[in-house]
Formats: sequence, C-alpha cells, structure tokens
Amino acid sequence: MITLSDDPYARKARVSGFRSRASYKLFEINDKFNIFKKGQQIVDLGASPGGWSQVASRKIGSNGLVIAIDKAYIQEFKEKNITILFQDIFRKDLATFLLENFGKSDVIISDCAPNISGNYDMDQSIQSMLAHRALELASNILYMGGSFVCKIFQGSETQEFVKRVKELFNVVKLFKPKSSRKQSSEIYLIAKDFKSES
Ligand SMILES: C[S@@+](CC[C@H](N)C(=O)[O-])C[C@H]1O[C@@H](n2cnc3c(N)ncnc32)[C@H](O)[C@@H]1O
Repeated sequence: MITLSDDPYARKARVSGFRSRASYKLFEINDKFNIFKKGQQIVDLGASPGGWSQVASRKIGSNGLVIAIDKAYIQEFKEKNITILFQDIFRKDLATFLLENFGKSDVIISDCAPNISGNYDMDQSIQSMLAHRALELASNILYMGGSFVCKIFQGSETQEFVKRVKELFNVVKLFKPKSSRKQSSEIYLIAKDFKSES
C-alpha cells in the first residue's frame, strides 16, 4: 500500500504549492498534447481541491481565465485568473449560465470522479455519466477548434464514448500519465479541434 508520504507526486505537490498530486497528470497531458495557450479561457469541471486549475492558470497567464467548477467546496485561490463556481455539473442550465456570463471557452477539462464505493460496476457507471455530461457541456460551450480533456475509467463503455467524441472532434487520443496510479483504471481522453456545436 502507498501512503501519502511515500507517494513522490503527493510530496512534490506539497512542496511546490499545488493542491493535489493530480496537478502532475495535467502537466504530463499538456507536455504531450500541447493543450494550453496564453490568454485562453478554460472551464475546469470537478475542480476541487484545485490542482488542475492551478496548472491551467499558470499555462494561460494573467490574460486568461480558469472557471473552476465543483459541487464540493473549493478554497479561494491566490491566482487572480481563477474564478470559482460552486455547482453540480448536472445543473440543467449550466451551459447557458456559462455562455451568458463568460461566453465560449477554448478548453474544457474534466477530472470529475465519483466517490469510489468499491462497487466497480456502480463506480464505472457514475464515471461514465460524468464523462458524457462533460462532453455535452463541452459541445455547448467550446469554440470551434477547441480542446477537451476528460477522465474516464477503462471499461466496457470506453469504446462507445471514444466513438461519440470522434464525431465531435478531429483528433482523439487516450493517455495514461505516469503520475496516474497504476492500480487505478482511470485514463484520460484528449480531444482536439472541435468540429462545431452540433
Ligand atoms: C479527482 S477530484 C478532482 C481533482 C482536481 N482535478 C484537482 O486537481 O484538484 C474529482 C472531483 O469531481 C467532483 N465531482 C464529482 N461529481 C461532480 C458533479 N456532479 N458536479 C461537480 N463536481 C463533481 C468531486 O466533487 C471531486 O472534487
């Protein structure tokens, strides 16, 4: 069993001022797929405690904006280019709210995950609903050409999800960062070049 103090990414995150070890997964994803650019607007779904938002904030710089959304509490950031929305991503009018208040976004990132119950089928099914909802939101609020990064659990529904994403994006890849625990079935889908809203 790995304890927090044994985990190099958790230690590194603490020392470097990141709120979660998950930050390193997004660094790896960005290093490989070149997602972020200065001045972009990013929507971070399932953002608490905030490690991914911190990474995106650094990458987009002071002229960009990260909208960090979670149904769980997120402590205020010292980074001025992150704004927090305390919301469930299944809230029906979330896309409309985002469009009316912020306009379209360049990148949607989702690290949303259920509280793991230990019942693999149930956890997998909730994870799948979260991923589909993240995709639905992305398809409503992304600029054409935008990018989508989403956590999924590998399983029977993966291929169907990938197929759906390929209908909406020109480039779709799956990637397991080194910093993602080997025993975890999580994997990340990276989609680039959003085709259009419909
Ligand atoms: C693995 S954590 C995200 C870690 C984050 N990326 C970071 O770097 O700190 C998963 C998050 O998904 C959130 N989540 C799960 N279901 C959600 C929902 N329906 N609406 C909003 N957030 C949700 C949880 O509250 C949790 O904070």
